[in-house]
Amino acid sequence: MNASDLRIQSRNLIGGQWVSAADGGTFEVIDPATDRRIAQVADCGASETRQAIDAAAGAYLDWSRRTAEDRGTILRRMADLMMRDQQRLAHLMTLEQGKPLSEARGETAYAASFIYWAAEEGKRLYGETIPASSSDKRILILRQPIGVVAAITPWNFPSAMITRKLGPALACGNTCIIKPAEQTPLSALALGELAIEAGLPAGVFNIITGDSSTIAGELFTNSLVRKVSFTGSTEVGKILMKQAADHVVRLSLELGGHAPFIVFDDADIDAAVAGAMASKLRNSGQTCVCANRFFVHEAVYDAFASRLAAAMQSLKVGRGFDEGVQVGPLIDDNAIAKVEQHVSDALSRGARVRTGGKLLDLGEGCSKRFYAPTVVDGFTPEMKISGEETFGPVAPLRRFSSDDDVIAMANDSPYGLAAYFYTRDASRLMRVAEALEYGIVGANDGLPSTPQAPFGGVKQSGFGREGGRHVMHEYTNIKYVSWGLG
Ligand code: SIN
Repeated sequence: MNASDLRIQSRNLIGGQWVSAADGGTFEVIDPATDRRIAQVADCGASETRQAIDAAAGAYLDWSRRTAEDRGTILRRMADLMMRDQQRLAHLMTLEQGKPLSEARGETAYAASFIYWAAEEGKRLYGETIPASSSDKRILILRQPIGVVAAITPWNFPSAMITRKLGPALACGNTCIIKPAEQTPLSALALGELAIEAGLPAGVFNIITGDSSTIAGELFTNSLVRKVSFTGSTEVGKILMKQAADHVVRLSLELGGHAPFIVFDDADIDAAVAGAMASKLRNSGQTCVCANRFFVHEAVYDAFASRLAAAMQSLKVGRGFDEGVQVGPLIDDNAIAKVEQHVSDALSRGARVRTGGKLLDLGEGCSKRFYAPTVVDGFTPEMKISGEETFGPVAPLRRFSSDDDVIAMANDSPYGLAAYFYTRDASRLMRVAEALEYGIVGANDGLPSTPQAPFGGVKQSGFGREGGRHVMHEYTNIKYVSWGLG
């Protein structure tokens, strides 16, 4: 696919128009696999954000009054167009994000699935009636859209983390402003073009690219914005919570994770290795739900560790467009520095590399952002890798001997997004699933994410749920009407 087939959009979508930054400013988008510049994108700030908010507020009345069927039809058309353009969108994504093309195709379908789901679920925003305490009253519960909703989205899933918010927000009758990550604005802007083609009215979906703190500053101080949904780091989530406090803006936060992955002595080891690979290597280890701390029962440790290391060694690392590549580059130099620091800190404290453990030089034309899929034996609690999210293709392993100990170790984290475990014992399965302090539990499943289920965390992994029927509560207000019959 050549550059003109990709149809790179570099302007912002405000009120149905494609606009440049008022001062003509742009920023660069870089291909992380090659370090080459792909595009110059509008560097918008507070005034353009204000215009987008005004456009969304102006479009709200009409959009919120439409029927759910009407909104659903347009949203389904948008998802159909995403599937029609799956190949093109995947190319754009691999170019700006680096993930292998097959994963980018998969993410495009995953992204469309959130819109398909929301388009249907919007028809089921049921109200309630409550028996009143006097015979001349009736109590009705209405579920109504919130108003103007903003979403701040990350670079690791440049399409899916947008549609996961946009689909339900629009299906419930809200209007939206999306602020994509600076590293990956092109996928977001391509979605904007498809939304217009699908017939989404002007102002219902707006996209602003530029400096995150400037744009967020306007989003949180403008009283027209009634809700912000954010996916990103816990560190930034805490800053946004403070900003939201001034205007009591509703928030959903999907923040960092540090997922434990437990292999019990009765586990199907091949299935556990396959689940570990799927969870750990997705997007080169750059997902919030990635398995990050592997606890393996001492009776099966050697079998699991050697099979995992062999599977890791067999992976093809390279540029996402190259044939057969399974692991792409990390997003930037900071990401590489963090992975290197985690591995060297673990080694300096007594851990041992079983495979990988180094930066790869892939030669002419490739950036220095490729890290070998790595297995580290013997991590301990004082190591950085034990306490912080690595966000790279590194699997640190540790032995355990009792269920109680491993549950305590798994829960010993400020994070609570996803956890995984493998066992063939049904009673243990239920006991462990209940004991893990996480919002998502993969029980014999390394890939639990799906649009039907309520994705989200507990503790410092945030709050709010995305997906399933539960997400619709994030984008509606409840109102009760106490009706005196007179
Ligand atoms: C994430 O990394 O935040 C999302 C991953 C997923 O949807 O499974």
